[in-house]
Amino acid sequence: MKRHDTPYDVALALSRHAPRGIRSLLDPAVGAGNLIAPLLSRLDSKRARVFCVDSDREAIDAVSRGLGDLLPTGTNLIHADFLSWSTRPRLPRFDCVVMNPPFAATKGMLYPIECSKEFCNSRTGLRYVPLEAAFMSRAIDLLSPNGRLLAVVPCSVVMADSLHWFRSQLFSKGAIRFVHELPPRSFPTVESRMYLVVFDKGVGQKKITLLNHDLHEPEQLKVPLADCRSTRLDFGFVSACAKLDLLSKHEYLKWKKLSDLAEVIRGDIASPRGPRCAVHSTDYSNGFWHASKRHSKAKFISPNRRVQRGDILMSRVGRNSSRSAGRGIGIDGMACSDCVLLIRPNAISNAVRLRFALRVMLSLDWTKPLIERGTGASYISHGSLLNLPIPMGVSERFPRQLQAFVIGEKSCSGAKSERAIHCVAVKIARLLNPAKSVR
Ligand SMILES: C[S@@+](CC[C@H](N)C(=O)[O-])C[C@H]1O[C@@H](n2cnc3c(N)ncnc32)[C@H](O)[C@@H]1O
Repeated sequence: MKRHDTPYDVALALSRHAPRGIRSLLDPAVGAGNLIAPLLSRLDSKRARVFCVDSDREAIDAVSRGLGDLLPTGTNLIHADFLSWSTRPRLPRFDCVVMNPPFAATKGMLYPIECSKEFCNSRTGLRYVPLEAAFMSRAIDLLSPNGRLLAVVPCSVVMADSLHWFRSQLFSKGAIRFVHELPPRSFPTVESRMYLVVFDKGVGQKKITLLNHDLHEPEQLKVPLADCRSTRLDFGFVSACAKLDLLSKHEYLKWKKLSDLAEVIRGDIASPRGPRCAVHSTDYSNGFWHASKRHSKAKFISPNRRVQRGDILMSRVGRNSSRSAGRGIGIDGMACSDCVLLIRPNAISNAVRLRFALRVMLSLDWTKPLIERGTGASYISHGSLLNLPIPMGVSERFPRQLQAFVIGEKSCSGAKSERAIHCVAVKIARLLNPAKSVR
C-alpha cells in the first residue's frame, strides 16, 4: 500500500486542536511521524508516554531516525498491525490519539468493530466497516475519558450513507467538535476529499463546527447537533442544503425534484468494450456529447439504454462529472458505456427547459457536493441525482437567457449556451445574498 504522508501545513492545522500537557500520545499508523512531530511541544514533560505503531518496518525506522532525540525517553516504536495490536490486553489509555490511517479506495475488505446493541443486531456484537472506520473506532476505544482524537480521514467516514450508523455511534460515544474539509489535492495522489476530524470521548455537545476547504481562514458553520445526526458532516453538503432552503422560498423558481421530471438510466456497455464502441465520457467537450467513428450501432441488449432524442447525457465518474451535463450531437440510437448517465425527460416537450434548468443548477459551484461521492475516484450518486431539486421556473423568469441558450445549442456553440447559463446562475447566486438587488 502506498504511504500518503501528511503534508506539513495539514499536520500543523490538526496539531492546533491538540490538548496541552499530553501525558500519553498514540499514533496508530505513524508513517514517518509527520503528525507526531508538531505535537511533541504539547507533551506534558519528557516523561510523557508516546506510542508509535506502524505495520511497515521502514516507517518505524524512519521515525526513529527522523525524530530520534526529540521523542521522550522510553517512546514505544511498535512494528505491528494496529488492528491486531489494539486487541491486546492491558494496553494503556491515551489522552490524545493522532492519526492519518490507511484507507480503502475501493469497496472490498471490511473489518470488525464492537458495537453496542443500539447499533448492531448480530449476536456477536460486531459490525463490519472499512479500514479507516475500523482505525477510528479502535482508536476511540483506546482513549481515556475526555481524551481527544485528532484524525485525518477520507470522505467515507464523514458522508457515506453506508456509515451513517457509524457516525451516530460516534455521537453516542462523545462529541465530534470539528470537521474541517481539506483543500482539494492536499494529498497529491489521493482522489478522495479528505477531512480533519476532532473528537472528544465521553462528553456531550450541542453544536458541531463544520469548516470549508480553506486551511487558514475557513468559512465556518455551527450546526445544531439535531440537524447533523441524521445526515452528513461535510461542510459542502450541509451548506448546500442551507442554500437550497433559502432558495426554496422563491416560489417562482418552481423547484421540482429531478425524479419528478425525468428518469436516470446508466449506460450498460462495460469496460473494456464500452469505451471502445459506445458513447463514453471522453465524447464530452464544451457542453456537448459528440459523435465519433468509434461508436457502433451493433446490437446491444437494451434499446432503452441507447441515447434517445431529448436525453441529457452526463459522465458518471471523474472529478468534474457534475459539469458534464449536455445534449448529444448526432448520437441518437447509440449505446453508452457504463460511465455515462442518460437523464431522460418524462415529457419530450419539457426537454429544453429541463436541460436549461439542470445546467443552471449544476453550474452553481456549491451544488457539486449534493450529487458527487466517492472515496476513490469521485462519481455521481444515482439516488442523489434523482433527489436534486431543479429550478424549472428559470425558463419563465429568464426568457432572454433561455433563448440565448437555445440559439447556442442550435449552433452547437458551447460558449454561447454557457454564457446564458452563467448569467442566470449569477442572478440565482445573488438571491443568496439579500444585500444585493435581484432582477
Ligand atoms: C497515510 S500513512 C500516514 C502516515 C503518517 N501518520 C502521516 O500522517 O504522515 C498511513 C500509514 O499507515 C501504515 N499502515 C497501513 N496499514 C496499517 C496497519 N494495519 N497497522 C498499522 N499501520 C498501518 C502505513 O504503513 C503508513 O505508514
